[in-house]
Amino acid sequence: MRRKLVVGNWKMNLHWNEALSLIAEIVDFGLDLKLKNTGVAICPPTIYLRHAYELIKSRNSTLALGAQNCSKFDNGAYTGEISATMLKELGLETVIIGHSERRQYFDETNEVLREKMKAALKADLHVIYCCGETLNERESGSHFDVIKAQLEEGICKITATEIREWVVAYEPVWAIGTGHSATAAQAQEMHAFIRSCLAQYFGEETAQCIQILYGGSVNPTNARSLFSQPDVDGGLIGGAALTADSFKAIVLATEE
Ligand code: PGA
Repeated sequence: MRRKLVVGNWKMNLHWNEALSLIAEIVDFGLDLKLKNTGVAICPPTIYLRHAYELIKSRNSTLALGAQNCSKFDNGAYTGEISATMLKELGLETVIIGHSERRQYFDETNEVLREKMKAALKADLHVIYCCGETLNERESGSHFDVIKAQLEEGICKITATEIREWVVAYEPVWAIGTGHSATAAQAQEMHAFIRSCLAQYFGEETAQCIQILYGGSVNPTNARSLFSQPDVDGGLIGGAALTADSFKAIVLATEE
């Protein structure tokens, strides 16, 4: 059985003091909850990661830590970049790649994303690969084709062994930060489709092992119905991951 996974994507939010208290609160509730079937990860802004790592270790917490981005380059004269190896050395387990905000605001093409994924997998990081259609694409009925293309572009050059280090996050662009989540039925329909694509590329057994997260306006009220769908293995949470109470409620929804 696949474990559930809930990942907080903090994006470029929270001041230093706010970030420190939130990390501490999440570590504490994680220790209290003693989760059986759910992994929990947070992806704070890079500059907070070192502190987060030290806090997690000092409390013997199993909270996993991820980055929101990494460089496609291994090392060298690339001002402002942070390599996947550096993130790994910092104690991170995972990195988000292909978020629609990176595609939209930082012009990350599929080719760039593939290189980033290669770099991350080489550094032994798990990749959370995001895909999702725009409102226009859904309304015109091309959403399945769009997701298939994004998956194919993403997995191209990734081996069957590497794919096991992959988590897919289905994040319809129209649902991100809008308060209009996909319905549980819409999420399940797309997740089942994504799994069928993965089965086509890598075989049914491998496809059954890959976690597929839903992201886009998940909140404590809709989390339970979304996460109870057979192919929805948890969530990638933006806004609702910025306060301990709502993040905790969403994590708890996976165990019910
Ligand atoms: P949201 O963001 O939960 O604020 O909609 C999700 C995401 O972008 O990962």
